[in-house]
Amino acid sequence: MRSADIIAKKRDGLSNSKEEIEFLIQGCAKQTIPDYQVSAWLMAVYLRGMSMEETAILTQAMIHSGSVINFDAPSSHLLVDKHSTGGIGDKISLSLAPIAAAMGLHVPMISGRALGITGGTLDKLESMPGYSVHLSEEEFKKTVMRDGYAMCAQTENLVPADRILYSLRDVTATVESIPLITASILSKKIAEGARALVLDVKCGSGAFMKTFQQAQALGESLSKTASLMGIKTSVLITDMNEPLGMKVGNFLEIEETVDLLTGPAPEDVRTLVLTQAAYMAKMAGLVPDIDSGKDLAREQISNGKALELWWKNVKNQGADPAKVDAMLRKERAPYSAVIHSKISGYLQICAQVIGQAGVLLGVGRNQKTDAVSPTAGFIFACKSGTHVLQGRALCTVYAPTKQQLEQALQFIKDHQGFTTHNEPIKKSPLILQEISD
Ligand code: URA
Repeated sequence: MRSADIIAKKRDGLSNSKEEIEFLIQGCAKQTIPDYQVSAWLMAVYLRGMSMEETAILTQAMIHSGSVINFDAPSSHLLVDKHSTGGIGDKISLSLAPIAAAMGLHVPMISGRALGITGGTLDKLESMPGYSVHLSEEEFKKTVMRDGYAMCAQTENLVPADRILYSLRDVTATVESIPLITASILSKKIAEGARALVLDVKCGSGAFMKTFQQAQALGESLSKTASLMGIKTSVLITDMNEPLGMKVGNFLEIEETVDLLTGPAPEDVRTLVLTQAAYMAKMAGLVPDIDSGKDLAREQISNGKALELWWKNVKNQGADPAKVDAMLRKERAPYSAVIHSKISGYLQICAQVIGQAGVLLGVGRNQKTDAVSPTAGFIFACKSGTHVLQGRALCTVYAPTKQQLEQALQFIKDHQGFTTHNEPIKKSPLILQEISD
């Protein structure tokens, strides 16, 4: 088989066969096919697309480029996970995992780091001193089966083809291809052992997918490809035009997670956590419908079981719960400023601008190798749509240095992170669409 022929078929709008896709992915993982040929094929896929069947074959080939975590559990239907395409203030995984575990599920949660404006679960967890996201495969499996969940970084052996393909996509303008995104997300989640998935596809200025049509196309591709591979999914398309919750920042989001697990929490965070937990419970057969799933999830918060599992996980993964608890509401980056409303009106907060200002503060990173700040971030005083009077405090910004604070404030001002309007603003619903098997 010749790589050039495989590329030519895709370039001409034809389908690639199973053998061809497997040949290409194996060659990519073993580095026997040069980057320039893999890149040419990626561009052909970007321009010509792939059928769902090809996407499922690609996903399978990527899974088998490395090792697969096999739980060997008789209760494999309880292995359920979630994935979010990422946004600003999206801390849902942090509380969802202990709630799902408290409901009786096993959540093998392998997460990523912040990149660009999108926050990363691993950076949030590591803002707790001592917390380690590096577990061996054995530790990971044991902890998931014993405690109901573990939070872990992707190991070298898990879907190595994705790492190579993603780095080539990043420099060849092919990241935004729906079949390539689908295979990238599903391969990692299936290789970690999950048998059912809730997929939160974010949509809006602070998301990868800016329009509803794009988010819907990705949602359908994820759902249909997973179904061809025997994996159940529930896809939620959710709004990301304003940041989620009232706190954005690595440790700040740990605080909001503990808030949710102890009771009071912003309505949008609470709604998303309960809804996602409900879909997880329903797919595993624990409840007959979404409303009973939400009740079951609520119960895990009110009876304290989810909070107990949260602290147990914090301890198991190396942090000191007493120390972390003492840091809550105290641990802040040293430089801060309050943004006030210039005029009275209906407030609009732009997630994209907050995300970009967050990168300047060190909440996120521009490059994989950049360090992040555990304590920088934003605490909002109100949400988009609130009527605010002139001079009202809208947000406190925290920065590790004076220079970063000034840069972030200037960026927010220049790019209209906060605007006020005479008429009530049109807010998208939080959950725009639910696609379920
Ligand atoms: N997230 C992933 O894991 N892969 C992509 O290609 C895009 C988003």
